[in-house]
This record gives sequence, C-alpha cells and structure tokens, in this order.
Amino acid sequence: MYPMNLSRAEEMPPSSGEGFEKDDFRQCFPEVEVLLTAEQIQARVAELGAQIARDYSADSPPLLVGVLKGSLVFLADLMRAIPLPVQFDFVAISSYGTETEHTGQVRLLKDLDTKIEGRHVLVVEDILDTGLTLSYLLDLLRTRQPASVKVCTLLRKPSRNKVFIPVDYCGFDIPNQFVVGYGLDYAERYRNLPFIGVLRAPTLEK
Ligand code: IMP
Ligand code: MG
Repeated sequence: MYPMNLSRAEEMPPSSGEGFEKDDFRQCFPEVEVLLTAEQIQARVAELGAQIARDYSADSPPLLVGVLKGSLVFLADLMRAIPLPVQFDFVAISSYGTETEHTGQVRLLKDLDTKIEGRHVLVVEDILDTGLTLSYLLDLLRTRQPASVKVCTLLRKPSRNKVFIPVDYCGFDIPNQFVVGYGLDYAERYRNLPFIGVLRAPTLEK
C-alpha cells in the first residue's frame, strides 16, 4: 500500500509538457559560445558508460570518486549509464590561483567517506587541465591500497598538461580555451548549463 500523502504514478495528472526550451539557455547566457551540445555530451556519456561497464564486472564494480564541484553533473549522468552496481563518493580539492590559472598548490577540503582498501576506484573529473589536481588526488588514493585506480575525465586540454596523468576514459579533447557549463564554472556561475561552451573574452576580463 502507498502512504496516504504519496500519489501513485498512474494517478498523477498528465504533464503539461512545460519545460525549458533549448534556446532559453542560449538566450539567458549569450556570452557563452556553444562548443559541445547537450546531445553530443549525452551521446558520449552513454558510450563511456558502456565502455566502463565492459571493463569492470558486477562482482567487483568500481567506486566512482567525483571531484567536487565540477564533476557533479557528469558523475550523475555517467553512473546512470553504467549498468553495474556501482557506488559513488566525493572529494573536494581546492587549487590556488585565479579563476582561470592554476598555481600548482592543492589542498584537500573534503575526504572520502568510504574506505577504498582493496576496492576498484574510478576517479571522475570534469576537466584535465594542468593535471595538478589529479596528480595530487591519485597520489593520495594510492597510499590507501585500492585494488586499482583509473581515471575518467569528461574533457581534456592536451597542450596544457604539466604533469602526465594516465587517462583511461576521456570524453572529449578540447582546445586551449576556458570552458563552462555541465558542471564547469567561472566564479561559481554557469554550472547548470546543459551544454559546454567557451566564455567570450569580455566576460573573463570583468
Ligand atoms: P588542473 O589541476 O589544472 O588539471 O585543473 C583542474 C580543475 O581546474 C578542474 O577540475 C576545474 O575545476 C578547473 N578548470 C580547469 N580548466 C577549466 C576550464 O576551462 N573551465 C572551468 N574550470 C576549469
Ligand atoms: Mg572550478
């Protein structure tokens, strides 16, 4: 039986069909030039999920470790594209520098809640830029004797990498431009865009 205050799905009124239109986001954020559409991202996330599901087994599925806050949207979509009994957890890492430049100093703000000894860990990142954030995180995770550690990043800027990070799954290689949307921010804005785009220069100079 259903509790009195919960409606059964079949009794819900039909949806009015009202929702956002694709153009609403474009109109609200004209300073963002689309680089990857929501459809392109969803198609690639589905491929990555299928590939990950093939590489692991249901007996020892990976623990997905998202790096806050940027990987939130990607992780949410990715885990629903992996038909395995995966679990997830988050770390938060701060990098010092300006909004768009990394100084190389990194600090752990939030650790995992989960013990990873003997487990397969899959780190999920929004973007690999200099590689300094992931280098720090991978070193830290390896001290805890996980069964394996792999990396899945949605985006990679190849020419910017300062440290070599072995990437097992990569969504897109992108040019050396500052991008926002789908979890990625500029001054905490733009994370809710369903697409990924390049910020036009005047916005960055503000
Ligand atoms: P890395 O340590 O230089 O590889 O940078 C990692 C972090 O910097 C990412 O997780 C992002 O939060 C941020 N970042 C790097 N490039 C961009 C970008 O183009 N747009 C938004 N955030 C970025
Ligand atoms: Mg950021």
